Amino acid sequence: MADYFSYQDSRLCVEQVPLADIAQQFGTPCYVYSHTALVDGYRQFESAFAERKHLICYAVKANPNLAILHQFAWLGAGFDVVSGGELQRVLAAGAGAGKVVFSGVGKTEAEMRLALDTKILCFNVESGVELLRLNKVAGSMGKIAPVSLRVNPDVDAMTHPYIATGLRQNKFGVAYTEALDLYRKAAELPHLRVAGIGCHIGSQLTETGPFVAAAEKIRALVEKLSAEGVILEHIDLGGGLGIRYHDETPPSTTDYIGALLTAMQSRSEKIIVEPGRALVGNAGVLLTRVEYLKHGEEKNFAIVDAAMNDLMRPSLYDAWHHIQPVLRRAMPMQQYEVVGPVCETGDFLGHARELAIVQGDLLAVMSAGAYGMSMSSNYNSRPRAAEVMVSGNVVQLIRERETVHQLFAGEKTFLL
Ligand code: LLP
Repeated sequence: MADYFSYQDSRLCVEQVPLADIAQQFGTPCYVYSHTALVDGYRQFESAFAERKHLICYAVKANPNLAILHQFAWLGAGFDVVSGGELQRVLAAGAGAGKVVFSGVGKTEAEMRLALDTKILCFNVESGVELLRLNKVAGSMGKIAPVSLRVNPDVDAMTHPYIATGLRQNKFGVAYTEALDLYRKAAELPHLRVAGIGCHIGSQLTETGPFVAAAEKIRALVEKLSAEGVILEHIDLGGGLGIRYHDETPPSTTDYIGALLTAMQSRSEKIIVEPGRALVGNAGVLLTRVEYLKHGEEKNFAIVDAAMNDLMRPSLYDAWHHIQPVLRRAMPMQQYEVVGPVCETGDFLGHARELAIVQGDLLAVMSAGAYGMSMSSNYNSRPRAAEVMVSGNVVQLIRERETVHQLFAGEKTFLL
């Protein structure tokens, strides 16, 4: 992160461009991404796999901007999508569907049809009822659907409960104990082709242990399946590699992939992974301007022009994001609650931050490239932020700031 966003003299820059220049040109709030960080992040995954057959399916939900999808497609990535909308984005970015896996517990018939029409690589099926629906939809189209069961390995990811997905009590995947039976059923359904197996145990994991535990459970199933003559093309080990927001020490990409490959050493199937956050999280910041410094009775507030609608993670998960001044000032620090203008007490970006700032200064909320823009909303009728990509000294707008008019363009007066 330090390499892509760093102080040059006292000015915080993205690659070679001062963030203040970007704020001046495109306004705030604004998401700013380092192109080099995206490319380097992807290449680290690629090189970690070395000679092993693999496919890196970027989890579109982390950041679905077309420019980002296009970039990963160009680098050779596949994609993990969880809706027809995400699949259409992948296609709109110019990527083929041939490297797309479709996850999610609630695929509709329309989504299945779209995915079959566009010939995706595989459906990551999450229940027996979904298998039946997919078989029916594929049959009605005269097609054969490639399937992989997402197995819930019942492993504790040791992460925030809202983003742990691999426990028995979670809604995701098919139960470990039922997986073999479901494979037998799938093999008998005429419009399905068993292609793989998968799991995804959670997000923002900071240790390899749970990944390895899940991979080993999956490997045991693969061995049983192959003993029964069910031959799989791929094993999908999901996403979930964490990043450093504060003082976490997640494994490096090399160590993480290395641990997965060790667990899969005895197998020759292609390995798929679905990283989201690890590819984009530290490649982006949310740039915001201090509108007011308000000195309350108990606390000082830095009221900025970004809010929970722009970056929901602090409000939703109590997540920590570093907040850096865009201009380093030689003045004493003060402690601030960094808050937005939205009318909720839960609207904060950071608590008790030591900052040396004056009204009108810019702040960068760090590590905001993943689940930032993608989870933003229009709450309080706030248009969504612009997005800008930088490579070296090249700066390009990759999403225009939304206009208020766009927010209500589809609304109609109710007339009796
Ligand atoms: N594959 C599947 C099936 C997933 O559900 C997810 C994330 C991923 C891959 C990518 O996981 P990653 O590599 O990014 O950890 N909004 C939350 C994170 C939700 C993650 C949902 N699933 C946050 O802001 O922390």
